[in-house]
Amino acid sequence: MVQPLICPSILASDFARLGEEVAALEAAGADWVHVDVMDGHFVPNLTMGPDIVKALRPHTSLPFDVHLMVAPVDPWLEAYRAAGAEVLSVHPESGPHLHRTLGRIRQLGARAGVVLNPGTPVAVVEEVIDMVDLVLIMSVNPGFGGQSFIDSALRKIARVRALLDAAGSPAVLQVDGGVTAANAAACVDAGATALVAGTAVFRGGPSAYAANIAALKGAA
Ligand code: DX5
Ligand code: ZN
Repeated sequence: MVQPLICPSILASDFARLGEEVAALEAAGADWVHVDVMDGHFVPNLTMGPDIVKALRPHTSLPFDVHLMVAPVDPWLEAYRAAGAEVLSVHPESGPHLHRTLGRIRQLGARAGVVLNPGTPVAVVEEVIDMVDLVLIMSVNPGFGGQSFIDSALRKIARVRALLDAAGSPAVLQVDGGVTAANAAACVDAGATALVAGTAVFRGGPSAYAANIAALKGAA
């Protein structure tokens, strides 16, 4: 089995020391840095604007995987790409024309991701399968870190895995929310190739990051 990409969510980091935090993640063996962008409208929390991503760019060479929980999302794509995002993931509910939004992300030279909330149907992926480089399955309702994994996400991962395989799509299949060493193997068995984890990576402070990341990789 291929090892999943580990994508720590800096939502769980120390916001007063963000630059050091992303550098520490790289040293600890993270693959991508997951950036949760929330607008206080699409989701009930407010986080990081493009200037923060830009300020973080010199502090790590890891890809920035930007999860946009913003509506309308289209006006923000260019700014996050210019700030240094390699992956831009959007929710179908965050704009009227998902197909166009994904095309725009690719046109900007980024990898395009589509995000399925627990209540969003898998069928959305079928309609845009040739437009996506990543599918993100939410295993919590977005807005906050530290929530519990919703088990039905495993069946959804398996259904999207089957769709991607049937289409011959090389898209990354990512899972986000409540991911821990206890459920990482189940996610990978269901077909996930990338794990987002906030709480499970940042627990215990910087001296624990390497062990926390290794535990996720080892479990998977
Ligand atoms: C939720 C975010 C997640 C979340 C992950 O809206 O998209 O990335 O912060 O945090 P944990 O791993 O603590 O659930
Ligand atoms: Zn996220």
